[in-house]
Amino acid sequence: MKKFPQMAIALAAAGTLMLAGCGASNRDGSSGANTGGSDDVDVAALTQCLQDASASVATGSEGTESTITPSTGFDAGAKIGIALPAKTSQNWVEAEGMFNDQMKAAGYEPMVQFATNGVSEQQNQITSMITQGVKVLVVGAVDGSQLGGQLDQAKAAGITVIAYDRLLMNTESVDLYVAYDNYKVGQLQGQAVIDGMMADQGEPPYNIELIAGSPDDANSTPFFEGAMSVLQPGIDCGALIVRSGQVTQQQVATQGWLAANAQKRMDTILGANYTDAKLNGVLSPNDTLARAAIASLESAGKAEDKTVISGQDSETASIPLIMKGTQYMTIYKDTSKLVAEIVKIVDQLQKGEPVTVNDTATYDNGIKIVPTDLLAPQVVTADNAAEVYVDDATRSVCTADPAPAECDA
Ligand code: BGC
Repeated sequence: MKKFPQMAIALAAAGTLMLAGCGASNRDGSSGANTGGSDDVDVAALTQCLQDASASVATGSEGTESTITPSTGFDAGAKIGIALPAKTSQNWVEAEGMFNDQMKAAGYEPMVQFATNGVSEQQNQITSMITQGVKVLVVGAVDGSQLGGQLDQAKAAGITVIAYDRLLMNTESVDLYVAYDNYKVGQLQGQAVIDGMMADQGEPPYNIELIAGSPDDANSTPFFEGAMSVLQPGIDCGALIVRSGQVTQQQVATQGWLAANAQKRMDTILGANYTDAKLNGVLSPNDTLARAAIASLESAGKAEDKTVISGQDSETASIPLIMKGTQYMTIYKDTSKLVAEIVKIVDQLQKGEPVTVNDTATYDNGIKIVPTDLLAPQVVTADNAAEVYVDDATRSVCTADPAPAECDA
């Protein structure tokens, strides 16, 4: 279980907001949620409740810096094992070439492998990397809690183990975690869904539905909990209504991060709950699932709802949708920067130098709090996309109108 101290603050805030939402007097008002013109809605109180929830997301995610020295050094030019999961989103695909190029440029011999077929394939790949003498193991896990045996072997062989993007769970045998701030990603998504609905969907209450990532991915929890730290106060005060009633991470999870699974669930929800109601917002944890929700809304004939949908990854296929307003937002987590951070750390490990981390409190993997080096995610909407992607050759072309064909891939 991870520990997210921010959660406690958000829940305390929720209590206050509930009072704000329930205690104020009623007045008539047009509602984003098509509540049928109910007289019982205090729009001002609900608006205030949502504004407070949105404002609860602190800016910046810089933590306190400290250092660790997990390695006594090894030969320059060493083999570095990089075990990646299935290619469930564009960031993983891009990571392969970036790891190869940047590791080679720094003089190492990278061994990059994808576990397309799941956990046992990844276990075998890691065992093979250990046998082949890697000095550092960088792991983007399929399932972070299923690698304990292999990671113990790695530690016994003197290998430094770095959890990459996804935390390695329930093991002592992980030295370091390097990722974009996942909890913050969720908070920014929740905030954007609220802000987008308040800007474009009339007055609250708003109907929303929730989608979470794959239950075997350790990131799915901080994404969801971060988002719910912002959305839950709105649900509690009545400003956000989840007509399906599906609000727990388990209920809204998407096995394997597969678009087909999210789309099927959304089809069922739309058919059962929204034939005569507008769906104002969808919390989606990434762009692949955002596009699944969009496809579902379109096939249900609800494109005109202009549902506010969140995403993550800045996938090229989502950028034109963002520019058109079909998907409200995404998150930019520049993979080349995350890979560069790993290469910088590998250099420090090679020389036996200390490594700087900026979070030694949050990422509890069930056995220990893993020293973490967090990078800051960035929110992207139609308003700032051109600016955010200016140095990203792949993404900047996709902000053009019309977008070139390669962005649809
Ligand atoms: C990554 C996300 C990605 C998801 C699905 C997560 O672990 O952090 O960026 O969207 O996996 O591939």
